[in-house]
Amino acid sequence: EVHDNADLAALVRTIPDFPKPGIFFRDVSTLLLDGKGFRAAIDRLIDTFDPDAVDLIAGIEARGFIVASALSYALAKGKIMLRKAGKLPGAAIGVDYVLEYGTDRIEMHVGAVSPGARVLLVDDLIATGGTALAGVKLLRGEGAVVSQARFLVDLPDLGGAARLADAGVASGALLV
Ligand code: PRP
Ligand code: HPA
Repeated sequence: EVHDNADLAALVRTIPDFPKPGIFFRDVSTLLLDGKGFRAAIDRLIDTFDPDAVDLIAGIEARGFIVASALSYALAKGKIMLRKAGKLPGAAIGVDYVLEYGTDRIEMHVGAVSPGARVLLVDDLIATGGTALAGVKLLRGEGAVVSQARFLVDLPDLGGAARLADAGVASGALLV
């Protein structure tokens, strides 16, 4: 039974030396396996923002889609897929970014957001914030207002939430 954040934290396991030596990988797959735990996590996340201030939810491929989908369903808000390079069939715009362990590129469909749409950015985890900041840049470039982001897990030592704050995005996470 999930009672508090310590119970949720116990559902996220840490795997050393993945995907490279020296990286301690926080693995949310064990939280996803626990149906009540995942529901509790999503419900708690929803309690941390005002749904009336959100028009659309943007999730980052791949694990961010799981969070975005649950929030989208629970709140009946539309969602935007921020996809890895080359996956979107329509006209797309992209941003390259640096990861804790490599580089990547995310893209979104041109015209997915109306100018001024208030978008909540979500992902499973924020580490350096490179991915989330790329998402913010992409969405803002298309005219979205992005002032809030939420994550299941924050690794505060890697500075991602602070970088988001510098970019004018207030973030929050259930677990640190
Ligand atoms: C992970 C995680 C975040 C990002 C966090 O995704 O899901 O999107 O890295 O790192 P950052 O804050 O340092 O940018 P990953 O790129 O491993 O992709 P995946 O979800 O497809 O596994
Ligand atoms: N876990 C999952 N995804 C990640 C991590 C991690 O520790 N670091 C960067 N992306």
